[in-house]
Amino acid sequence: MAASFNNSAWFYDRLSRLVYGNALVSAQLYLLSFIEPGSRVLIVGGGTGWILEELTKIHSSGLYITYVEVAPAMMALSKKRDIGGNTVIYVQNAIEQVNLAPGFDAVITPFLFDNFTEQTLRIVFTHIHALLKPQGLWLNADFQLTGRWWQRFLLKSMFVFFRLICGIEASKLPEIKSCFTTDNYTMVDEKTFFNNFIVASVYRRNLVIP
Ligand SMILES: C[S@@+](CC[C@H](N)C(=O)[O-])C[C@H]1O[C@@H](n2cnc3c(N)ncnc32)[C@H](O)[C@@H]1O
Repeated sequence: MAASFNNSAWFYDRLSRLVYGNALVSAQLYLLSFIEPGSRVLIVGGGTGWILEELTKIHSSGLYITYVEVAPAMMALSKKRDIGGNTVIYVQNAIEQVNLAPGFDAVITPFLFDNFTEQTLRIVFTHIHALLKPQGLWLNADFQLTGRWWQRFLLKSMFVFFRLICGIEASKLPEIKSCFTTDNYTMVDEKTFFNNFIVASVYRRNLVIP
């Protein structure tokens, strides 16, 4: 079900920085600032794993991180990252195939959903939702369309490129925000980058009322 970013592992970071400069990194750095010391953190689709090193710069130890990445080549690069004194469990699989113990304080989904169909998005979202504890934070970064022609152009180009190289399934951006609305999340904070094309959102899961 998950697309394979395996083929792109060796050039993904360089290409994304060539196109977007520091915007993809800045969006994720902004999200990382919301992680509390000692948190149990789930990272899904971390790519080459640079996010682990950035998280370690903020919290040199004390985090319990579960790092789920489906592409073996991406995971191999991620395992080489400096994690300081943090504990990281690496799971090389599609998140929706993995049975993890629920109760994460925070989950991070950085540019995970944009290449999913609506159907895959819903399956993956529901799976991750069940792992986040009530009042936990969901930190999501992704693209959004705000009506500019060049956004559609860039998005289309990305879909065509990654369909050819990696076999991704999507041809349009799925309704990411509506998943958070449907599952009753509260928006805590949000920041946009690259002329609003990139949005980093901080959501809080609501208390589950029995
Ligand atoms: C567009 S890339 C973003 C990589 C990284 N977050 C970044 O911003 O540089 C999406 C990543 O999610 C991974 N991925 C896609 N579907 C996944 C799934 N179902 N479970 C875990 N990882 C997945 C891909 O292998 C890829 O590394």
